[in-house]
Amino acid sequence: MTSAHAVRHFLRDDDVSPAEQAEILTLAAELKQAPFSRRPLEGPRGVGVIFEKNSTRTRFSFEMGIAQLGGHAVVVDGRDTQLGREETLGDTGRVLSRYVDAIVWRTFEQHRLDEMSVTATVPVVNALSNEFHPCQVLADLQTLAERKGNLAGRNLTYFGDGANNMAHSLLLGGVTAGLNVTIAAPPGFEPLPWILEAARKRAADTGASITLTNDPMAAAEGADALVTDTWTSMGQENDGLDRVGPFRPFQVNTDLLAQAQPDAVVLHCLPAHRGEEVTDEVLDGPHSVVWDEAENRLHAQKALLVWLLAKRNGGAA
Ligand code: CP
Ligand code: NVA
Repeated sequence: MTSAHAVRHFLRDDDVSPAEQAEILTLAAELKQAPFSRRPLEGPRGVGVIFEKNSTRTRFSFEMGIAQLGGHAVVVDGRDTQLGREETLGDTGRVLSRYVDAIVWRTFEQHRLDEMSVTATVPVVNALSNEFHPCQVLADLQTLAERKGNLAGRNLTYFGDGANNMAHSLLLGGVTAGLNVTIAAPPGFEPLPWILEAARKRAADTGASITLTNDPMAAAEGADALVTDTWTSMGQENDGLDRVGPFRPFQVNTDLLAQAQPDAVVLHCLPAHRGEEVTDEVLDGPHSVVWDEAENRLHAQKALLVWLLAKRNGGAA
């Protein structure tokens, strides 16, 4: 499928400008109110949804979201395709673009997404890579906006592995929304320097601040949102690092929550490892918004697809 307009991809959080991110979030809120109001995939047009790692939320939310937009999701395990054998990512991008109107892909290294996006003539969406999880952060921002209204100037603190996909996307997507982002991580688990640099660049545009610290209690002080994630991401199970001991002080528990704003919310992309990065008391408690956050994957991703498809056709979403 070809188009006269330059195709837009969503491979990392700063692939959209602050104004564009706000547009997508407004559309996500609209779609939550009127889930069947947009049918850009009527036909049905197809979306390829490829997984090279496990998934519950991403798989269900994309498949249902695409159906609600009038389309058909071709959901495959990457290991069942020729991707898992010797076909290049470039050739795969070319071929899939002849069948579907967007490619949604959960994979390992970010450069794999970059490589496919060079030849794909339809939008490529990052459904989680080792470095970023930008669809999740759109849902997180939607959830936060529902609870707090305007995001600019609010304080969000992430606790745990500061070098994983969630930390990176919260950093980059968070400052794009004007959030002051603090990453509280044990020494040696700080964000990757090139991602930090990209986040600082974006923060300079939005007026947001970035703080890195090894002190979890200080990091919780005054936070409007506390966020955590697994200490061991998919693919890191045998990386030889101690992924428990150094992280214990960063557990999101009632002591940590007591330092935050009285109306602070707790986010977690899930799946949660109860008793590790978060306690049952907090996850099941009144500050937790994780179930709304999971639901918002559906609305935020539908909005993203509507927006990307409209851009490709040269129109407004
Ligand atoms: N949060 C998230 O991406 O969940 P899944 O791994 O279940 O898709
Ligand atoms: N950081 C986690 C997120 C899972 C949704 C992982 O990559 O496994």
